[in-house]
Amino acid sequence: MKMNRRHFLKFLGLSTVLLSSCNHEAVENLTRTSPNILNGIKATNLDDFILPEGIEYKIIRSWKDPINPSEYFGTNNDFTCFFENGPDSALLWVNHETLDPKLIPSIEEQRKSVGGSVIGLKKEAGEWSFDSHNKLNRRYDANTKFSVTGPLASKKTSITGTLANCSGGKTPWDTVLSCEENYQYFDEKYGWKDFNRKDYGWVVEIDPFNPDKTPVKHSALGRFSHENAAMAQAASGQLVVYMGDDKADEHIYKFISKESNIKLGSKLLEEGALYVAKLNKKKNTGEWLELSMSNPKLKDHFKDQADLLINTRKAAKLLNATPMNRPEDLELSPFDSSVFVALTKNPDRGVDHGSILRITEKDHSDLKFSFDNFIVGGEESGLSCPDNLCFDDKANLWVCTDISGDQLGKKPYKYHGNNSLFVIPTQGKDAGKAVRVASAPLGAELTGPSFSDDYKTLFLSIQHPGEDGKGSWNSKDGVPRSAVVAIKLTGYLLNES
Ligand code: FEO
Ligand code: CA
Ligand code: CA
Ligand code: CA
Repeated sequence: MKMNRRHFLKFLGLSTVLLSSCNHEAVENLTRTSPNILNGIKATNLDDFILPEGIEYKIIRSWKDPINPSEYFGTNNDFTCFFENGPDSALLWVNHETLDPKLIPSIEEQRKSVGGSVIGLKKEAGEWSFDSHNKLNRRYDANTKFSVTGPLASKKTSITGTLANCSGGKTPWDTVLSCEENYQYFDEKYGWKDFNRKDYGWVVEIDPFNPDKTPVKHSALGRFSHENAAMAQAASGQLVVYMGDDKADEHIYKFISKESNIKLGSKLLEEGALYVAKLNKKKNTGEWLELSMSNPKLKDHFKDQADLLINTRKAAKLLNATPMNRPEDLELSPFDSSVFVALTKNPDRGVDHGSILRITEKDHSDLKFSFDNFIVGGEESGLSCPDNLCFDDKANLWVCTDISGDQLGKKPYKYHGNNSLFVIPTQGKDAGKAVRVASAPLGAELTGPSFSDDYKTLFLSIQHPGEDGKGSWNSKDGVPRSAVVAIKLTGYLLNES
């Protein structure tokens, strides 16, 4: 098992919850280094990828670019995950989430356009670019064979394909967790025949460094529209995975591994307990309820634990879990290990702009928590419909917004302009102020932000530019193409005052 020491130590830093009121030294540190980020860019409807003056980007790979002699980069990229592999070389994992059947009419091609890519990167003069000679460049798609772990393995040991890969997470043992989200589109919208929905909606694990290793679907983490997987370690050593189900009125979950030795790596994801959140909105507290056949409220409703996990949503409803405003990404603060949850919107409940919820636990294995609203979307805060999140090392939260393509530029979203990337300090004097630092091309959504280990490069996906016939960014043969870009951070974006 490969383990990058720096990344592992960073992960261990997430194992201790420090109550922010007690951590004066850290607060002062952050205040001193808190960037002067009050000069962001303005909302715009321009059909371009726009960054603050002096900040530059390069396209790493676009849809259909070759990545090796027989495979090409997939479509509609989302989650990116950076793995440094030496001073000047790295691997980047990229999810490919959805597809446009008008652009890819053949189902055979559609099957090869989803899933994920592993691409090599090389660094020259401080800039990362695609390394066409990297022998690890390869695709995982709807034809790749996966093995199955956890309770579902008693019923089936392999599944063909991964798809609808939205966001994900990086494990402390340097593999990727890629989350299968809107799998229902594949028969409902794309017309795939003989499509077994129960084979999708899982969290899959891939070792980017080992092409010979069979990737796996970890059934113990439940089946739903998985957005991402954010990991932490409890004081006991158990691995804890926080997850959201991206559908209106669905839920927030956490998995606690049975074993507590982090060196077990992937095995930790094979056995453990899955919990769903129930919130007390009057007291701003909550509890985690176990989704298990040993729970008397559940045991008569499912054949066995595998059946329960296949139908995780039904089990959560039987326990009266709290319906949320469409949970998107969850991320852990490097400052105090609190869990930030993007709740994108829920117009049927009158919530057009969403919010970011913050969950605080004394220890990640606790079954009780408290929560507050870190930021509420709307004209006053400036952002709307938060989706992907990531933290930098100064506890600034980077937030991508995802207003639906057909509602961009219209009420109540007119003030927001195109979908954008915001930075929000979570500590220090500017805590809670959202500053726009990138604006997406027409029709596009910015997704999958991740940093290089030195935080000098931000990788970002530009998903579905030109959706609904709008725009022309990064066009080839008249078709705008999704792409992953590398943004070189300098000046205030790099916390240099
Ligand atoms: Fe794929 Fe929940 O966004
Ligand atoms: Ca998302
Ligand atoms: Ca994220
Ligand atoms: Ca999205």
